[in-house]
Amino acid sequence: MAMLRATCNKLNMGLAQLSLIGLSLVLLFEVGHAVDKSNFKTVDQCGFARRHKDIPEGQSPYAAVLDSFHIEADGVMRGNILNTKNGVLLSLEVFGLEDRMVRFKVNELSPIRPRYEVPDVLVLEPTPVRWTINKQDSTSIEATTSSGITVLLSSQPFRMDFYDNKQLVFSINPRGLMKFEHLRERRNSLDQGEEGPGLLDLAKDAILDLVGYRSEEDQDQPVEDGEEVENVEQAEEKEPEEPEEPDMWEETFKSHTDKKPYGPSSIGLDFSFPGFEHVYGIPEHADSLALKATGSSDPYRLYNLDVFEYELDKRMALYGSVPFMQAHNKERTVGLFWLNAAETFIDITSNTADKSFFGRMFDYVKGESDVPQVDTHWYSESGIIDTFLLFGPSPKDVLSQYTDLTGKPFLPPLFSIAYHQCRWNYNDEDDVLQVDANFDEHDIPCDVIWLDIEHTNGKRYLTWDNHKFPDPGRMLDQLAAKGRKMVTIVDPHVHRDNNYHMYKEGKDNDYFVHKQDGSEYEGWCWPGSSSYPDFTRKDVRDWWASRLSHDSYQGSRPNLFNWNDMNEPSVFNGPEVTMHKDVVHANGWEHRDVHNLYGLYFHMANADGQIKRSGGTERPFTLSRAFFSGTQRYGAIWTGDNAAEWGHLKASNPMLLSIGLAGIPFIGADVGGFFKNPDEELLTRWYQAGAYQPFFRAHAHIDTKRREPWLLQPENKLIIRSAIRARYALLPFWYTLYYNSSQTGLPPMRPMWMEFPKDMDTFSMEDQFMLGNALLVSPITEKGSRATSVYFPGTDPWFDVDTFFAYQGPATHNVNADLDKIPVFQHGGSIVPRKERVRRCSSLAVDDPYTLTVALNNAGTATGDLYIDDGHSFDYKQQKYIYRQFTFSANKLESRALSGTGFETNSWLERVVIIGLKSLPKKVELISQTITQLSFTTSHNRQVLTIRKPGINIGQDWTIRLS
Ligand code: GLC
Repeated sequence: MAMLRATCNKLNMGLAQLSLIGLSLVLLFEVGHAVDKSNFKTVDQCGFARRHKDIPEGQSPYAAVLDSFHIEADGVMRGNILNTKNGVLLSLEVFGLEDRMVRFKVNELSPIRPRYEVPDVLVLEPTPVRWTINKQDSTSIEATTSSGITVLLSSQPFRMDFYDNKQLVFSINPRGLMKFEHLRERRNSLDQGEEGPGLLDLAKDAILDLVGYRSEEDQDQPVEDGEEVENVEQAEEKEPEEPEEPDMWEETFKSHTDKKPYGPSSIGLDFSFPGFEHVYGIPEHADSLALKATGSSDPYRLYNLDVFEYELDKRMALYGSVPFMQAHNKERTVGLFWLNAAETFIDITSNTADKSFFGRMFDYVKGESDVPQVDTHWYSESGIIDTFLLFGPSPKDVLSQYTDLTGKPFLPPLFSIAYHQCRWNYNDEDDVLQVDANFDEHDIPCDVIWLDIEHTNGKRYLTWDNHKFPDPGRMLDQLAAKGRKMVTIVDPHVHRDNNYHMYKEGKDNDYFVHKQDGSEYEGWCWPGSSSYPDFTRKDVRDWWASRLSHDSYQGSRPNLFNWNDMNEPSVFNGPEVTMHKDVVHANGWEHRDVHNLYGLYFHMANADGQIKRSGGTERPFTLSRAFFSGTQRYGAIWTGDNAAEWGHLKASNPMLLSIGLAGIPFIGADVGGFFKNPDEELLTRWYQAGAYQPFFRAHAHIDTKRREPWLLQPENKLIIRSAIRARYALLPFWYTLYYNSSQTGLPPMRPMWMEFPKDMDTFSMEDQFMLGNALLVSPITEKGSRATSVYFPGTDPWFDVDTFFAYQGPATHNVNADLDKIPVFQHGGSIVPRKERVRRCSSLAVDDPYTLTVALNNAGTATGDLYIDDGHSFDYKQQKYIYRQFTFSANKLESRALSGTGFETNSWLERVVIIGLKSLPKKVELISQTITQLSFTTSHNRQVLTIRKPGINIGQDWTIRLS
């Protein structure tokens, strides 16, 4: 009972109300309990998934109607696919696209109502390039685009094979697992003689429209008048319709019944990647970086869900979904983007390629050995098949192609890539100011203090608890005076209280989602009874955005930013803790169609609100828990409610790497672990890892002990302080990586294979990673570990960033990892910028001088870059930035502008450290307008040369000459 009461308090509701939700939910929120798996469906508990999962291989009823295929005026290849079992015709469009991509769409030729096509995710409708038909016969069509991509479209069964310069890289429907459930009227209503096109009518119409399709046996016979009608009859006689299953029209999970007024609508297709053994991506899962064969276990599931204290090594759905997969081998990387926002499953199997298709068009000879292949099977509950094939060929090309489609990542404001201090909750203004003061007292840099749900007036977001925060503006101004920011939580559920302005306005304007009967949908979340704005509507997003203005959000200030949680959306009393699938959104779309987009739309509205409140001049910062393809355009995400366990620390690396591969680079995990209390060693190691992960925020559950760094033993506090300081010193390097990311889509945190794509030893590596192309990080994630094995790829040396000790690759070395050591290595051939003065927060370091660390490769050369702007505004879009390249070769270090003109900095070059020089210079000179002699020292057995005080402005052209 005590437990129940505590939970009620937490949920801010009475016991009577709570009983509505059920005891099982109560247990869900208790600290220390593992996820209650029974709250979440297995694949066998999803009706549509069951219908796809066990489709027998090699019996596909789908046939491409070859005579219907044409290259149309826009260059697109269009034609029909026939379901020979029930006579339903589908349309197929195959778009060759610029930049080595292909898109294909499959829809019903004449659906009885439109099917959902995902809007607002693609940033452009990509321009088609023309297909040219090379060959066409009674069994297949072969066509090529100007970029060298060839498709072989086979008729019976329908299959497509895509070749990149004669190499087969994608096979579509090779196992015949395609299934496209056409929309239909419920059969018993037909039986009762109601109006509306019945399935048989549809089948007839469709087949009568069909030009030249013949079953296999008649293929050599000429087509004659009336033959189609005969086919109709055959189709009717054979099997006019697949058997109805009860859960096609209604499905119950626990106490929830999903009424499906539109019946079955799922789609599915299988894809093989011949020649590949490794596939990656499709986050979010608490699983390995290299995806596993799903075999007899559940498939990977993409369905945004609020899973408390999730388990590791699982394919269960989590908070975000990106239906984008990459396959990589030594020769190439390719990408597959399945643009669908409904619940989706992906089965993965390792296999051996069907070599006949390698040689089908070209003389493909690959020796005797078996060619590996990864087979995947994708199925979604509704929508259409809309797929992009990205042909790379390098890992970086694939990400660039994917982010050409879904948008380049936004450039975060500088403060947001520094350190964030959060917990559920900082209790009141005094508590906040005390935390703020303690950072200064202990000389630990910190940019942002966060407030969780308890800061509000009864979980009414965009309001304050007046007792705890009597004057939020004053508190924010005090933080601003120190250069610090604040983030408050803003969740999407709106407490149903007519005195709450957000509810009143939402209700008056009919902004909330509805139940099927037209009434406002009610769900339970932190405040109790809540309504959910329909963020799929632009007018609703605009309304929400306007409520972030300083006029509307009382007490807010320009240094206040937002955190969007629970936006899967989380509905405590909903099926699987989310919204009912039959909830109605704008234009009558069901929640089932848009589910995985809801969080993205909410994130979009909040980022937009922040931009608008500044009159369009300031960059926003919003952290979201739910995500989808395109999230990278709006803000950061984190991996939700992890636990203070070593396993969760270890899992943070593959989880973040997978999300980065899905185009979302600004990502982090709760440092310290959300649930449970970390011991000091775990917390210390977690800070060390977090300092080298993209989004760096400590967070903790309300029931955990306070754990701010100064509460630890002095030794641990000092180690954590150095980790945070190391992060601050590297902010210029991180900021440059984020700038590059905003241009190219490449994440700052990269799997080893992205930088060493030909080194097969890196393909499954997930406990070490690269930051850009310069730093290799191998965080310690094992209790008690004081040494670790690090693999150093390539033949150039790697330098320990603390000791400058050189490790030679390619080899694995055992390296020291005492408690105060973070194994980080700079690659020979790179130049890394730092600011080494210790400051309270990043804004105070704006004019600080730079140190450049030049690590030489075997050839005695190195390159690096540095991006600088004002750190907060959109002025950089008008060229107001500095972007420079540094090059060291032939004993000269040169700085030249790559782009950017209109920005000036006061920062100067304080120090240049050169590691790996073969011989030491006698003289070092700075050449700019004049020539100045510089002093230098050597250290570390004369391996390291430190050039002191070049003193030149970092934004200028200069050369440092060693002689
Ligand atoms: C969710 C979030 C967590 C937050 C809590 C209270 O569990 O994932 O970070 O502290 O809600 O708002």
